[in-house]
Amino acid sequence: MLNMASLLTSASLATLLMGMAIVFFAYAVAGVDAQDAPKHLHFYMHDGYTGPKPTAVQIVNGTGQPLKGSGGGARFGDTVVMDDRLTEGPTPASRVVGRAQGFYVTASQGDPAMLLTMNVLLTEGPYDGSSLTVMGRNNIATTERELAVVGGTGVFRMATGYVLWKTASWRGRNAVLELDAYVYVSPAAAGA
Ligand SMILES: *[C@@H]1O[C@H](CO)[C@@H](O)[C@H](O)[C@H]1NC(C)=O
Repeated sequence: MLNMASLLTSASLATLLMGMAIVFFAYAVAGVDAQDAPKHLHFYMHDGYTGPKPTAVQIVNGTGQPLKGSGGGARFGDTVVMDDRLTEGPTPASRVVGRAQGFYVTASQGDPAMLLTMNVLLTEGPYDGSSLTVMGRNNIATTERELAVVGGTGVFRMATGYVLWKTASWRGRNAVLELDAYVYVSPAAAGA
């Protein structure tokens, strides 16, 4: 009788453990979907100094020698304000999906590196009306830069994440940047 009882108990225990394992697994998968998987946004940014309607305007001329590797001869302290178009593809005629509004300051006396801060306002698709706030170090001499997503509004309320930033093309001072944003949003914060 005792043996039978302990057999039954271990069978129940095994069932219980298996059940718990399934619950934990399901919880982990749901967790990945809801919170851990970033939203990926990909777009191009047109930083245009020339033409009839420039979207980037230098508002402070920096001092000192031009910084090595800056191409356009950036100086420490150079400050540019921008209201750049964001498009789906790399060409200027590509569909507009938003604006990048902010400024950048050449804040390094060594590398041509800028402190950049901007609001990315989305005007198309599921993120229409939402915005991301991006801030970081943009060393234009490196192929790929990483900037931080420090917040957002709307769908992106309380967002965190990062932006991988590349120069797609460069003519004179006009640049087309390719941005891949990986954004983590809390469903609770977004009211989902
Ligand atoms: C910066 O220097 C350039 C070239 O000398 C000049 O055309 C421009 O007006 C200056 N900009 C500012 C904001 O001082």
